[in-house]
Amino acid sequence: MNISIIGAGAIGTAIARLIVNAGLKVSIANSRGPESLASLVAELGPLAQGVTAQQASQADVVFLAVNWSKIAKAVEGLGRWDGRIVVDTNNPIEAPLFKPFDLKGNTSSQVVAELLPGARLVKAFNHLAPPLLANPEAEGGKRVLFYAGEDAQAKQTVAGLITQLGFFGIDLGGLQQGQLAQFPGGPIPGLNLVKHN
Ligand SMILES: NC(=O)c1ccc[n+]([C@@H]2O[C@H](COP(=O)([O-])OP(=O)(O)OC[C@H]3O[C@@H](n4cnc5c(N)ncnc54)[C@H](OP(=O)(O)O)[C@@H]3O)[C@@H](O)[C@H]2O)c1
Repeated sequence: MNISIIGAGAIGTAIARLIVNAGLKVSIANSRGPESLASLVAELGPLAQGVTAQQASQADVVFLAVNWSKIAKAVEGLGRWDGRIVVDTNNPIEAPLFKPFDLKGNTSSQVVAELLPGARLVKAFNHLAPPLLANPEAEGGKRVLFYAGEDAQAKQTVAGLITQLGFFGIDLGGLQQGQLAQFPGGPIPGLNLVKHN
């Protein structure tokens, strides 16, 4: 299974570290091209490579971790997704104003899904700040991540990855229920749960 990330900022970088720490390969892209990612890729080590967003979009599982206002441009021209899985880590708010975007009654995942024709979208990795996301092992247990989506098989794949990266995953249901973990709006964001055996 090929894994990639579009977006190499706070969230994209945290996820990239988790993936290489689990011994898996990852391709990572930003808006400025692979050369601009050289020092990050060197730090991540041989399991990581910098690619273009177009190349990243061809992976089996693509994490999308881009500022809300830039998502449309980031995925413009990437074509149809042909059933590839997109992990939507995004929230409809951004620095410096932290003013929520108007979703016109939709969930943020519905808005993102409309930009990704043919993708199987799973909402996950969006409810914690990067320093917490960076550490799946916590207080003698496993940090909890939530996931939501409409496609059972895609959710199973992402759930497996969540486990492989060292977290404890909880299935929230469909994308409507995924709104529970959406920031702002849902009650879950920032909830730092740890599962003990
Ligand atoms: N930070 C948090 O606490 C947090 C927590 C949960 C969820 N989130 C969500 O995660 C997403 C990313 O947040 P972040 O904090 O990681 O943001 P960030 O640190 O500002 O990073 C954003 C990344 O998106 C890339 N990008 C922008 N336009 C692009 C384009 N056209 N094509 C490819 N890549 C593009 C940027 O690349 P360049 O630098 O090359 O432009 C950068 O690597 C947001 O939707 C946010 O709501 C954030």
